[in-house]
Amino acid sequence: MLFDKNILQKIDEELRTYVDRDDKLYNASKHLLFAGGKRIRPYLTVITYMLKKDNIEEVLPAAAAVELIHNYTLIHDDIMDNDDKRRGKPTVHVVYGEPMAILAGDLLYAKAFEAVSRIKDNKKAHEVLKILSKACVEVCEGQAMDMEFESYYPTMEEYLEMIRKKTGALLEASVEIGAVMADCNEEEREALKEYAKRIGLTFQIQDDVLDLIGDKNKIGKPVGSDIREGKKTIIVIHALKTLDEGKKKRLLEILGNKNIGDEEIKEAIEILKPSIEYAKDLMKQKTEEAKDYLKIFDKDRRKVLEDLADFIMSRVY
Ligand code: IPE
Ligand code: IPE
Ligand code: MG
Ligand code: MG
Ligand code: MG
Repeated sequence: MLFDKNILQKIDEELRTYVDRDDKLYNASKHLLFAGGKRIRPYLTVITYMLKKDNIEEVLPAAAAVELIHNYTLIHDDIMDNDDKRRGKPTVHVVYGEPMAILAGDLLYAKAFEAVSRIKDNKKAHEVLKILSKACVEVCEGQAMDMEFESYYPTMEEYLEMIRKKTGALLEASVEIGAVMADCNEEEREALKEYAKRIGLTFQIQDDVLDLIGDKNKIGKPVGSDIREGKKTIIVIHALKTLDEGKKKRLLEILGNKNIGDEEIKEAIEILKPSIEYAKDLMKQKTEEAKDYLKIFDKDRRKVLEDLADFIMSRVY
């Protein structure tokens, strides 16, 4: 079983301790935090730790920290992206209004650092703080690039930098924090960072693919939102480089046009089909590379990280 129920339950129990209050602000934060997220980031922290150690309790505050940060970014992201659904539920700003949603995100952000302060070993706590604060800076930089790309066409290199920051940075931090908590040596940490870089990239590419061809009931988010918002995903960038003039012109008419309906979104997805295949090939390549970096670890212990890399590429939610 890829996601161990016992570990997931422990992560949830730890998370609950940070938001144990019943008022509007805390309820707004909990609305998303307990809406059924996959918990990939804290899970990564725990299973990376388990490459070398078994005392899960030690790593739980660190795992909670990355999930708290993740949920803060999602609440703010849904405001920025004008999205009204997440995890199958109305988004926080739809239910509580934008001002309270901004605060709910801020609360989770602050709580993440409370979580770090609960790490018992001071040296590790300091190291985790360094990794996490760097990741938070990068998420902001990446999200800013994502928004700026709505008004121009970035190169593939710019796109890759944007997704490494907005999505990769926190996934990388999740793994690196697991490595720190497990006392991994330099060689092990470097290998894990290379692994994480590739799954981070793949994670966002699959997110972009699912936005086009996902099942809205499974992904729990609106389908085609990136087209309506004019997001420059890898699929769009590849299409603009490879399409004939006619199709390119049509795609450009639809992209970012707030007045389009479902028919036009379907038409754009049809035009983008070959580029979706390109994205899938790239994900396969990156996933294999990611798994290769794990070879220095014990075969049985690394298996769950290998399986998670495969899951990230082929997930349907
Ligand atoms: C969604 O992350 C946001 C991205 C970085 C693409 P997840 O797909 O991990 O969201 P949840 O936590 O499972 O809802
Ligand atoms: C989100 O990217 C990245 C962060 C939240 C930092 P997206 O905007 O593509 O994520 P979804 O699709 O809304 O989950
Ligand atoms: Mg976004
Ligand atoms: Mg979004
Ligand atoms: Mg998305």
